[in-house]
Amino acid sequence: MKEKVGFGSKIGLLAATIGSAVGLGTIWRFPAIVQEQGGSAFLLVYLICLLVFGVPIMLAEFSLGRAGGNNIINIFSQNTKAKGWQIVGILGLLASNLILPYYMVVAGWSLEYLWHSLSGGLFDGVDLSSDIATNCKVFEVKMQESITTKFSPIFWTYMMILINLIVLVRGVQKGIENLSKYLMPLLFIMLVVLCIVSLSLPNASVGVEFFLKPDFSKITLDMIIKAIGQAFFSLSLGMGILLTYAAYFPKDTKMPSTAVSVSLSTLLIAILMGLIIFPAAASFNMAGDANQLSGTTLVFVTLPAIFTQMQGTYLWALLFFFLLFVATITSTVSIAEVSIAYLCEKFGISRTSSCLWVLAPLFITSALCSLSLSGVSVLQFWGVSLFDVLDGFTTNYLLPISGIGVCIYLGWVMKKPNYLLEVSNQGTYKSMIGEYAFYCIKYLCPVLLFVLLVSSLIG
Ligand code: ALA
Repeated sequence: MKEKVGFGSKIGLLAATIGSAVGLGTIWRFPAIVQEQGGSAFLLVYLICLLVFGVPIMLAEFSLGRAGGNNIINIFSQNTKAKGWQIVGILGLLASNLILPYYMVVAGWSLEYLWHSLSGGLFDGVDLSSDIATNCKVFEVKMQESITTKFSPIFWTYMMILINLIVLVRGVQKGIENLSKYLMPLLFIMLVVLCIVSLSLPNASVGVEFFLKPDFSKITLDMIIKAIGQAFFSLSLGMGILLTYAAYFPKDTKMPSTAVSVSLSTLLIAILMGLIIFPAAASFNMAGDANQLSGTTLVFVTLPAIFTQMQGTYLWALLFFFLLFVATITSTVSIAEVSIAYLCEKFGISRTSSCLWVLAPLFITSALCSLSLSGVSVLQFWGVSLFDVLDGFTTNYLLPISGIGVCIYLGWVMKKPNYLLEVSNQGTYKSMIGEYAFYCIKYLCPVLLFVLLVSSLIG
């Protein structure tokens, strides 16, 4: 009989699951959306989304995954004879396979910038005594050279694929768990250090106010839709990851408290990111500058330029790009693990072969995503790059649809008694969170997600 693989310790299990959750969604996308949506109100809406959708759907995926095992398609045929429900598993598998190609490209950029921070090359041609606007222009050119040229980003993406391969071939405990167990605490410490530095800059309080003082008038339907998308992406909901990781949970893992811990940690890290970005931006007169604080520019132009204005430029850059690298690697391994576990379970192949089957196609698909950003015309669809098409389609539509599927299956097919038995570790303890989550899963989440999806489709 095959040996059952799984996480070896509670701390390792938590670190791996938080590592999967905390990635580009929290470190990069979150501050950019807060900026785009006009500040603190988004944080409030995001918090509500974590409570209403995040914890419940995470708990739904945990219960289905631990009860059902590694084949995320078969999980959805275990409580019913009808085969149609397997589509929910297929959606999760599809989502992870559509996210991985473009995610790996950004992971490659983070590796490239980490390398340049280590070698000092990041600041070549930069005059540290120049003002921030001048340095932003220099980093803008550098970013164009790094990201939108044809070959350099592909090289770094390939490096990142190889690093993933090395970690994943080692397996769940020795690869994923060990990686996360050491790197996630480090990520947290780095965030706290950068946060303290940022908060001690002159005028930091303006940024703190923008980020934390709620302005309810800014809440719009568009913001709510974005907050739900952000909750899904940042907590890895609907991607099959939580179903897969939960199959590695020991039977005595208290899943409700695990779901709360993972969601709160992700929120905490998002808040720390906000407390790094907005005070620093305010201090260097960039608060409210939507161009400078949007996704790629924020990370690869504005932050390095801000670092040039601070004592310890090289150290802060190194710390930040190492942090970004940690966040991406602990997420990419989790996204790839969905298909790796599925192929091992479904076809009985070795882990090494499975890793190769999943990661080898990325040498082509990620390269295509990267090339689409350099303007190759066949990789543009209605003027949008393949990279952005994949990102937009999965985050805005596929993940919520997959989430609706998980909720309906758990609420109406698996049903409450089976769910409660799994959540309470076969009735060994009582869980109020589990009870609360069930009502969200059965009624609130599917209805709200459906209404919001339809409203976003109608425009
Ligand atoms: N949850 C992962 C992230 O936010 C996918 O990057």
